[in-house]
Amino acid sequence: MMIRYAVGALFLLVLSILNGANGRNFIKLPSEARRFFGGAPDGNDGAGDDTVGTRWAVLLAGSNGYWNYRHQADVCHAYQILKRGGLKDENIVVFMYDDIANNEENPRPGVIINSPYGEDVYKGVPKDYVGDDVTVENFLAVLLGNKTAVRGGSGKVVDSGPNDHIFVYYSDHGGPGVLGMPTNANLYADDLIKVLKKKHASGTYKSLVFYLEACESGSIFEGLLPEGLNIYATTASNAEESSWGTYCPGDSPSPPREYETCLGDLYSVAWMEDSEIHNLRNESLRQQYHLVKERTANGNANYGSHVMQYGDLKLSLDKLFLYMGSNPANDNFTFANDNFLLPSSQAVNQRDADLVHFWDKFRKAPEGSARKFEAQKQLAEAIAHRTHIDNSIELIGRLLFGMEKGSEVLKTIRPAGKPLVDDWSCLKLMVRTFETHCGSLSQYGMKHMRSLANICNTGVNTEQMAEVSAQACPTFPSNSWSSLRGGFSA
Ligand SMILES: *[C@@H]1O[C@H](CO)[C@@H](O)[C@H](O)[C@H]1NC(C)=O
Ligand SMILES: *[C@@H]1O[C@H](CO)[C@@H](O)[C@H](O)[C@H]1NC(C)=O
Ligand SMILES: *[C@@H]1O[C@H](CO)[C@@H](O)[C@H](O)[C@H]1NC(C)=O
Repeated sequence: MMIRYAVGALFLLVLSILNGANGRNFIKLPSEARRFFGGAPDGNDGAGDDTVGTRWAVLLAGSNGYWNYRHQADVCHAYQILKRGGLKDENIVVFMYDDIANNEENPRPGVIINSPYGEDVYKGVPKDYVGDDVTVENFLAVLLGNKTAVRGGSGKVVDSGPNDHIFVYYSDHGGPGVLGMPTNANLYADDLIKVLKKKHASGTYKSLVFYLEACESGSIFEGLLPEGLNIYATTASNAEESSWGTYCPGDSPSPPREYETCLGDLYSVAWMEDSEIHNLRNESLRQQYHLVKERTANGNANYGSHVMQYGDLKLSLDKLFLYMGSNPANDNFTFANDNFLLPSSQAVNQRDADLVHFWDKFRKAPEGSARKFEAQKQLAEAIAHRTHIDNSIELIGRLLFGMEKGSEVLKTIRPAGKPLVDDWSCLKLMVRTFETHCGSLSQYGMKHMRSLANICNTGVNTEQMAEVSAQACPTFPSNSWSSLRGGFSA
């Protein structure tokens, strides 16, 4: 009886979170092919592409855990596209935790797919940096081509020269000003921008393209990435919204029934499926940006995000070929008549994809089984963690700024073009202070980075923050949630 009741209550709670938090519901979109070409200026100097230097790529999936299947699936898929495009393994550096293909939850052992109809994308992927070697330090060292700074892994770095082109693709959870890593400390926007500037100053590339999938990914470049570095970036979302998982259980198209997890992310799948059906010798970055933007925005549906572009926009006139190479099988494709994109009727907010996994696992597990019990426990823990983090931040806001103004200050969004925070070391300190008293923010908690940034922007000092955090979380034992997710601290 008791258990029944508890499960029923849990079900209602999950439903209310899924519906309430993101207004997710079941609206079907028109499924006709989308055609919206023409207009985009073309005829750039992309000509002569064949004579360029080396194409380099850095691919990084920043999460682990089967409920995050999609990020590593995205990155493996990207590798296959570049490989078919003609890039050599020695020029593609892959970061992934590598706990998916042989995960006990994976219904097809040794195989990873990135679409319901997709083939295996895991085969042949170089394991340059896996497990605990997927770190901020290694990622930045690889970008800079600094072999001596790398710890563990294959030691492969972007050893590029002045005529080379670099493509970076990162898929993970994020939050305002921050990108996740599987187990170690996360990557802050200011550290990434510093390294990009350093790379530019070293004169070791001609141009660099950065594709970024994460929640609030626009905040990584907004007001931070200057023009003149020969860098063009696009992001899955603007600075203040979630990005979306796709091919999730319950979606249409949905993954094969035995998959209790999302297979991909909306922006990521959009650029990759676009690249696979086009002649990349003729499609420009700008054309792809518009197609991906359209698909990721999803018309008027109440999910989707705003794909953004930053940096040297003139680079978007380059052909994709310059960065991704080109699959010879597509070389006779004309651009305009092949731009059918698979529509999807739904997507799941990045931050709820774990709940979807636990819920689907719970739903499908046999009555009374250990698996059902485990799924229920995972779900309950995830929800309890969310509640704890949300409430603690809210309370800290009230303690600092008063009952009325508290939540207003925390939610303040700075005008477009302004970075999240002026003093990044203050932000890092605030995160550490919060986590000391209230436990790890973890993946979900990254959504509160803006609140912590605003606390810095209003001039609160660390002592005040420590005091209110201690009050807000008087009994919370630190680190008790770290077993569930990659921690934020360190
Ligand atoms: C490479 O990294 C090492 C170790 O962090 C550092 O001492 C060195 O200055 C770096 N080299 C360059 C060229 O940045
Ligand atoms: C592309 O077209 C050329 C000339 O028509 C032809 O020789 C070649 O086989 C075609 N390539 C592919 C991959 O279909
Ligand atoms: C290349 O793209 C332009 C539009 O951007 C189109 O008009 C032209 O037909 C395309 N050429 C080929 C060979 O696909």
